[in-house]
Amino acid sequence: MTTEISIDVMLDEAVADARRRFTDANPASLQQFHTNAGYMPGANSRSVLFYAPFPLTIVRGEAATVWDADGHRYTDFIGEYTAGLYGHSAPEIREAVDEAMRAGISLTGHNLLEGKLARLLCERFPAVELVRFTNSGTEANLMAITAALRFTGRRKIVVFSGAYHGGVLGFGAQPLPTTVPFDFIVLPYNDAEGAVARIEAEGAGIAAILLEPMLGSGGCIPAEPGFLHALRDAATRAGALLITDEVMTSRMGGQGLCAKVGVTADLMTMGKYLGGGMSFGAFGGRADVMSLFDPRTGPLAHSGTFNNNVVTMAAGYAGLTKLFPPHAADALFARGNGLRDRLNALAVNAGMPLQFTGLGSLMNAHFVAGGVRRPEDVAGADPRLRELLFLHLLEAGLYTSPRGFIVLSLPVTDADIDAFVDAIERFVATYQSLLARSGGALLGGG
Ligand SMILES: Cc1ncc(COP(=O)(O)O)c(C=O)c1O
Repeated sequence: MTTEISIDVMLDEAVADARRRFTDANPASLQQFHTNAGYMPGANSRSVLFYAPFPLTIVRGEAATVWDADGHRYTDFIGEYTAGLYGHSAPEIREAVDEAMRAGISLTGHNLLEGKLARLLCERFPAVELVRFTNSGTEANLMAITAALRFTGRRKIVVFSGAYHGGVLGFGAQPLPTTVPFDFIVLPYNDAEGAVARIEAEGAGIAAILLEPMLGSGGCIPAEPGFLHALRDAATRAGALLITDEVMTSRMGGQGLCAKVGVTADLMTMGKYLGGGMSFGAFGGRADVMSLFDPRTGPLAHSGTFNNNVVTMAAGYAGLTKLFPPHAADALFARGNGLRDRLNALAVNAGMPLQFTGLGSLMNAHFVAGGVRRPEDVAGADPRLRELLFLHLLEAGLYTSPRGFIVLSLPVTDADIDAFVDAIERFVATYQSLLARSGGALLGGG
């Protein structure tokens, strides 16, 4: 008991010290924060970007480097939460956008670019026979769900605990307060037997199973292949549609993550980097389902002023053709696995309750020992350790995320990766005694 209290105090002090150093080093960001708080609640318009004591203001980016308002330089290991795959200044993207804009902005019509990007997506992702564009991954999922409800004439949608499908589609053990009021059934992730039993019990009520093949925001927890296959089969047997949300995972190899595991969805949703760094989302899949939106014959309308905007269409096409053809996706996947292996080896050697979950270029630090199969397995970790890691990495000139999410983008170099591993090594050395002593107390029964 005495030990636990002193660990608690030590952690509080370590966090307070780190926050103090951060505050002292970032007066211009603090000033921005105070000014903007007069016009936006908490100076914020995107919840994920907030952290204590106040978030940095980023003023400039080039390749894999960003600079904050106080002139600090960071190597970018978060890459706009996966949308920034191409970095901050890829000439291929800038030229494509410039060219598109020279031909005219806001054309109020079909344009020459949307068909080219649509064709690329259909050729690249096996599940996608026909595709439609949106402005965000959130919208893509909303439209895919809507299509499934109409196609099946049913009401229920199976989702998974800890999943994130967008700003109005977040789930803990239940839908979040901001989640749209569809008829959701929330089931535990990676429990194939339980999910299949529930889907069978619901019978003909289920319109769709909506699934991330790796929980992204939920902590980079991959679906076990057996789980994916079981859900594919269960959806088919129940006459429901399998919607795979590959907004984050479509980068995992040349055809996306589900194709790697041999699972083909009825509908697949996309977003992030596929728009070349611009606002983007898309949903696509079986021609018979997507034809619901065919304005010549289908019953469903799907509008959106910016759905086919030339800037996104041009940037997305340039990115996929010039910077991220399938072999580049395979290479990035291998590179990410290499980094994660190094980080995990380091944690194991130090005997720390620290591990890096994920696949390919997306990973998440978790301060727990033992297997991680679902978000509940990491819920007992002490958030103060995550904060210490985040602030430590910032001091080392490495920009990640408060929740421990780490992303490799294309311009990140091997030297950057070495620097990242060194910084984690120093973190482990600095906080070794704290981490080792906190281990038992923090594992929450794990
Ligand atoms: C798996 C997944 N689906 C959907 C979304 C929502 O995409 P957007 O932020 O473009 O609305 C995200 C965003 O992080 C995501 O990770």
